[in-house]
Amino acid sequence: MKILAVNASHRGDKGHTRFLINRLFKGATAVGATCEVVTLAALKINRCLSCGRCQTEETHLRCVYDDKDDVRGVFQKMAEADLIIYATPVYVFTMSGLLKTFIDRMYATGDIFDLRVSERGLMFHHIDRAVCSKPFVTLVCCDNLEAETPKHVLSWFRTFSRFMDAPQVGVLVRNGGRLSGHGRDPGLEKKVPKIFEVYAAYEQAGRELATAGRIRRATQRQANQEIVPAPLFGILKRLRFKPLKRKFIEQARKMQAESAR
Ligand SMILES: Cc1cc2nc3c(=O)[nH]c(=O)nc-3n(C[C@H](O)[C@H](O)[C@H](O)COP(=O)(O)O)c2cc1C
Repeated sequence: MKILAVNASHRGDKGHTRFLINRLFKGATAVGATCEVVTLAALKINRCLSCGRCQTEETHLRCVYDDKDDVRGVFQKMAEADLIIYATPVYVFTMSGLLKTFIDRMYATGDIFDLRVSERGLMFHHIDRAVCSKPFVTLVCCDNLEAETPKHVLSWFRTFSRFMDAPQVGVLVRNGGRLSGHGRDPGLEKKVPKIFEVYAAYEQAGRELATAGRIRRATQRQANQEIVPAPLFGILKRLRFKPLKRKFIEQARKMQAESAR
């Protein structure tokens, strides 16, 4: 089993996203998988120009950047892998800009005039299945504890899966990143003891991907569990968030009044 993680954090190898990929890979390599991380932040990735050259007869399915940046090289690695992990932090309620820029470049691998229907019955066009239809895991991390935070990323990957005929074989969502020191807080055990169950679940998820090609639901539940106990989060919300919010609103009104003078 060859697993390729596409790390889309703008902090590259220093981020929480990479920390979580490492946990997954610890489990996967222990049972014989070959694992590799592609760190998008360390590569040259130009944005799609929407020039349409990839759709012309002269330069069919070739991108003007093919020899000028690193995207084709990553697509080649994806084609050679058995499974992809798309790993991204939440940036303003969606995936990182780097990941979207990278994925936009898949446009140049498909013939948009060659109409097809996906396995889910969705009208689409020819795609390079070796790159776009690989089984994949969605790994999302964020700071906010609200369940709404990663919603758009998760919905986006569901749609991607349905059009691209790419089976989604696991969904890992880790919130509370800042709370857990992005995995690097030495006093973590006292503050959020649950986090160690989470890390163990990531290693288990890695083992399952390497041996069965998917993450079991029970493992996902353990990996995605709330690290702040739900009742405590509720109390915090009632006691702290509301007065805090009132304070912010008062402050904003004051600033508004001052700037109107
Ligand atoms: C530009 C930017 C936007 C962000 N937007 C959100 C957000 O909308 N919700 C959230 O919970 N965290 C947000 N974050 C925090 C990151 O998602 C979080 O710290 C994540 O763990 C970072 O992963 P990394 O260390 O791999 O970069 C944002 C961070 C940045 C830099």
